[in-house]
Amino acid sequence: MHPHRLLMIVVLALCVMGAVLPAAAQEREVVNVYSARHYGAMEAAFTSFTDATGIEVRLSQGSAQSILERLRAEGTQTVADVYFTIDAGGLDLAASEGLLQPVESDIITAAVPEDLRDPDNLWFAVSQRMRTIMYNPQTVDPSELSTYEQLADPMWNGRLCLRPATHIYTISLVGALINDLGEEAAETVVAGWVANNPTYIDSDTRILETIAAGGCDVGLTNHYYLARLLSEDPEFPVALFWANQGEDQRGVFRNVSGVGVTAAALNVENAITLIEWMVTDGQVGDETGIPGGNYEFPVNPDAELIPVIAEFGEFTIDPVTLSSYGDTQEAAVALLERAGYGF
Ligand SMILES: [Fe+2]
Repeated sequence: MHPHRLLMIVVLALCVMGAVLPAAAQEREVVNVYSARHYGAMEAAFTSFTDATGIEVRLSQGSAQSILERLRAEGTQTVADVYFTIDAGGLDLAASEGLLQPVESDIITAAVPEDLRDPDNLWFAVSQRMRTIMYNPQTVDPSELSTYEQLADPMWNGRLCLRPATHIYTISLVGALINDLGEEAAETVVAGWVANNPTYIDSDTRILETIAAGGCDVGLTNHYYLARLLSEDPEFPVALFWANQGEDQRGVFRNVSGVGVTAAALNVENAITLIEWMVTDGQVGDETGIPGGNYEFPVNPDAELIPVIAEFGEFTIDPVTLSSYGDTQEAAVALLERAGYGF
């Protein structure tokens, strides 16, 4: 056949197909995501995912607690294909309440170490965040710092900045204290923090800015807020201290950003493609990556660290299993209230 004639037939066939395909099949491929992570920290990453796969990411954003509440309330009617949250407790609760479905993907299981995913493949961590001690190096010598527990010492009276009890970051940290120390000892620690008359500030960035301005000497924040401020201003006058690193101590408190495919998902294939991308090509250490866009630590051991967080140095992580974080959430909320922790 003459090549021109063949081309014409192909073009004609494509036109006919376009005309007869049902409207739905011609729509863009999409994946709907309920996200507790802010779009700003992921915009570049999702753009590169869409460029690579042609799948559009439709994001609906809310707090960690509110997106979980939405999933519960909507049940089988939810439009969410992917649940993307910032706390292992939320992942664990969604999994145990039947809101997520198991995902069989050799790509994901090869990319994500076992301690960073659910044993039944209901959820997977995509990046790691450490909540640790931040201090003003003008007023605090790092030799005075050691553990979360030590911040209950009266030497810190009037010198602490903490996040309120309503925020999931406080709830999950106190949940970890309960896991590690038992409820009674955890309550003694939290009561000690409260006795030090902390300033409660509902923004990790503002806690760091307050430390920098001399309003507090010590605070607890996630590592990446300092990384972000340092990348804007390398002279930002706050330093990071990795908590609980002594010989007999358990290590710094880790949480994760993580994802699962909802039990009611309509776009299951696209959801799995998104998660596979997040834990492989999406692990790059710059703003086009899932950990990189938010200065978090990758989950994939092959991924490179962003230089600014590599400079925070080596540290040991509390090995408590992520799938236990949901179990202590309610107890943590009750403990914070009993201890009179601010909200
Ligand atoms: Fe955050």
